[in-house]
Amino acid sequence: MKLSLFIASAFVSAVTGISPEFQNVLQNTHKSNEYGYPTDFTRGIMPIPVHSHNDYWRDIPFYTGLSKGCMSTEADVWLYNGTLFVGHDESSLTDTRTLESLYINPILDVLRRQNPESRFVSEPTKHGVFDAVRDQTLYFFIDVKTSGPETFDAVISALKPLREKGYLTYLKDNRTVNYGPVTVIGTGNTPLNKVASTPDRDYFFDAPLDALDDPQYEKITSQISPIASASFKDAVGVITSDTDPILNDEQTKALRSQITVAKERGIGARYWETPYYPIRTRNLVWRRLLREGVTLLNADDLEAVGELF
Ligand SMILES: *[C@@H]1O[C@H](CO)[C@@H](O)[C@H](O)[C@H]1NC(C)=O
Ligand SMILES: *[C@@H]1O[C@H](CO)[C@@H](O)[C@H](O)[C@H]1NC(C)=O
Repeated sequence: MKLSLFIASAFVSAVTGISPEFQNVLQNTHKSNEYGYPTDFTRGIMPIPVHSHNDYWRDIPFYTGLSKGCMSTEADVWLYNGTLFVGHDESSLTDTRTLESLYINPILDVLRRQNPESRFVSEPTKHGVFDAVRDQTLYFFIDVKTSGPETFDAVISALKPLREKGYLTYLKDNRTVNYGPVTVIGTGNTPLNKVASTPDRDYFFDAPLDALDDPQYEKITSQISPIASASFKDAVGVITSDTDPILNDEQTKALRSQITVAKERGIGARYWETPYYPIRTRNLVWRRLLREGVTLLNADDLEAVGELF
């Protein structure tokens, strides 16, 4: 934030110091054809390790998070009569808000822009959504709300257009994970056995970060769960003060041990249900989580979280 302010103000003073003719050129060439390029849709957006929490609640799902550089987005899905609807609960569902309309098609559209075909392109590219950092994958958490096995099968089918383009991160022969523009992670009712028993697949599982040592999860590695999640409130504790250090010794110990167990297996960490009020507490927790090495910060206020980077 400070750096961009500095650049912005340096730019303004440079511009005001130059001749009117030069200023005229700067104003009038802006937006002319030769100053645009095919992949400039997301130009200048720097990815930040942030998960756009309850993304589908935003005025403009997916695109708002993308415009802020969020590396991770999320959709809650409900299967009715063969269609995956998106919403927080049953009362918020409508005919037009579907996984396809709010996420699959917009993501495809951005990737189409970032991977143009032209006589200059010798072979198909697989750039991610961020023009500035093309190998950054977009984590896409799909939270299964209705019956796990059926709904997750429908999710796998719904990913077909992304799969056909080769845009999905996939596991091959139960051995290597090949990162692509989009990494799908099933959460909520996603059936772990369905994910773990499939040696070739392009979907992963959101393991419980605070229970990776439990017998039922001890075999989980990054091949099953590239990122594991837990409720901060349940796994680390309730924050009752707003003084730095924000975590007491016991909370620090819990946090570090969970992140360490995950890291040993190549799994990234994400906490949801972090405090969102008071603001000072929220910010102290965010900063602390970054210092302790989480892979994604969970955030509702994307404007505010952007100022940490
Ligand atoms: C599913 O289909 C049945 C039979 O056509 C219909 O009665 C029901 O309203 C549909 N449910 C939804 C959520 O569309
Ligand atoms: C994948 O490999 C792991 C160990 O490398 C093994 O435990 C697991 O059963 C294998 N899964 C499948 C589906 O073959």
